[in-house]
Amino acid sequence: MTNIGIFFGSDTGNTEKVAEKIAANLNLEAQDIAGSSNDIFDDYDLLILGTPTANYGEMQPDWDYFVPELEDADLSGKKVALFGLGDQVDYPDSFLDAMGDLAELITEAGGELIGDWATEGYEFNDSRAVNDGRFVGLALDEDRQPELTDDRIATWLNSLGLTA
Ligand SMILES: Cc1cc2nc3c(=O)[nH]c(=O)nc-3n(C[C@H](O)[C@H](O)[C@H](O)COP(=O)(O)O)c2cc1C
Repeated sequence: MTNIGIFFGSDTGNTEKVAEKIAANLNLEAQDIAGSSNDIFDDYDLLILGTPTANYGEMQPDWDYFVPELEDADLSGKKVALFGLGDQVDYPDSFLDAMGDLAELITEAGGELIGDWATEGYEFNDSRAVNDGRFVGLALDEDRQPELTDDRIATWLNSLGLTA
């Protein structure tokens, strides 16, 4: 059986709330990345990691603090699915950028990214979270499209072969 670990960083609670929804779908608990070291990933084959984008394209502070841990991590053999939260109306030039930055760190650490997501249904100018025309993970906008979040989560978990 696949051991799944769900981790999030969150400033104002949106990403935490979404992480808890994803966890509830899988009968698991979501864990806050704040103050962790990378050995928290040891027990899992599949990581589901969630981050908002803060401050015009920056990483959320707890994830930012965790970057040296990620740079030291060996995630080879692990699959990693990302979900990102942002606001496409107020921040259209840096929509979900931090999810893109996290994706790069995960890949550098040897993790295998899964769970990319179509860009249809969003309006933005630029995003570091887009690679080859698709988001590198699930794109959520709790500020502008909160009514779409539950369906997007269910569709994404299904696409990953995880029961929703
Ligand atoms: C000062 C500030 C800057 C932000 N910058 C970005 C940004 O560059 N790109 C983006 O997509 N969202 C941006 N956001 C929106 C947040 O990512 C969004 O509100 C998210 O849901 C917050 O998640 P949290 O409650 O887990 O912290 C910003 C929000 C604030 C308050």
